[in-house]
Amino acid sequence: MTRQRILTGDRPTGRMHLGHYVGTMANRARLQDTYECFFLVADLHMLTTRTELERLRLTQENIRHVVLDNLSVGIDPGRSTYVLQSLVPAISEIALILGMLTTVPRLQRVPTLKEVMQDLEIEQPSLGLLGYPVLQAADILCVRANLVPVGKDQASHLEVTREVARRFNSLYGEVLPEPDTLIGDVPNLVGIDGKAKMSKSLDNAIYLSDDAKTVEQKVRTMYTDPNRVRADIPGRVEGNPVFMYHDAFNPDTAEVDDLKERYRTGRVGDVEVKRKLAAALNRFLDPIRERRAAFERRPRIVEEILAAGSERARREADETLDRMKSAMGLRFL
Ligand code: TRP
Repeated sequence: MTRQRILTGDRPTGRMHLGHYVGTMANRARLQDTYECFFLVADLHMLTTRTELERLRLTQENIRHVVLDNLSVGIDPGRSTYVLQSLVPAISEIALILGMLTTVPRLQRVPTLKEVMQDLEIEQPSLGLLGYPVLQAADILCVRANLVPVGKDQASHLEVTREVARRFNSLYGEVLPEPDTLIGDVPNLVGIDGKAKMSKSLDNAIYLSDDAKTVEQKVRTMYTDPNRVRADIPGRVEGNPVFMYHDAFNPDTAEVDDLKERYRTGRVGDVEVKRKLAAALNRFLDPIRERRAAFERRPRIVEEILAAGSERARREADETLDRMKSAMGLRFL
């Protein structure tokens, strides 16, 4: 019995943070033995919002960050396949074919399109930006993946993937599996400023590669209950970022319950709550830092991992494209 497949990916736009971890990376690490896993660095997707040469010069560095971040959380290149999107040309061709089966108004309704346009002040989307979910569908379908672990913000893209797979299959026969979405335990981790989402562009993130001192500093500035001006005033635990992080990253539930109880009754200061949070986060991040350091000591390891994995993905994607073309009667020779 062959294992079912996972494909998921990250754009190489910078370092990965705790929000990525709870949204998708924890699931990746947990499922890597149950599924045959593909992790894709989506450098072509990055072009949908970045085209200036000075920005693109950062890509090499960002590809390294994304791969090292995934390696550091324990996604083992011996068991999982790391892929660089632009090294798999069949993805682009599959995207071109799937684009014929997707309407423009359908893509205009994808909510992330509006969000990205607003955030980046883009007045008119390029064809590439509009087609973002179609390219993502090609990433997923090129290895015929069955499951896609992602953050909640990606759910609308996976709807497009399923729709286009269904459409292909109904027109040409069962070729493409319709993949399921898997959302992480904490679908939306708030930022350290209490804003709805941890994100690099909002500058409210704790990175997997932050050192212990940086984590302590960031936690010290964290947003808590704004009405609690003194330690002896009862505070709100619900919706309080500091406690959301304790819940997500502090496995010492007795400590967390005790802090919550004393917070609610005005018997603990923010300083202690935060000190214990920083300690818990650093305990959580320590093994991640160690793994990263071990990989960083090996020169060219990232290049080797991506070269080998992309080669493997190329074989799969070529096979998928072949099957698609055969089903469509597009194989003249
Ligand atoms: N769109 C995803 C994100 O921004 C990244 C991505 C690209 C992806 N291709 C993918 C995720 C395929 C899952 C599957 O996070």
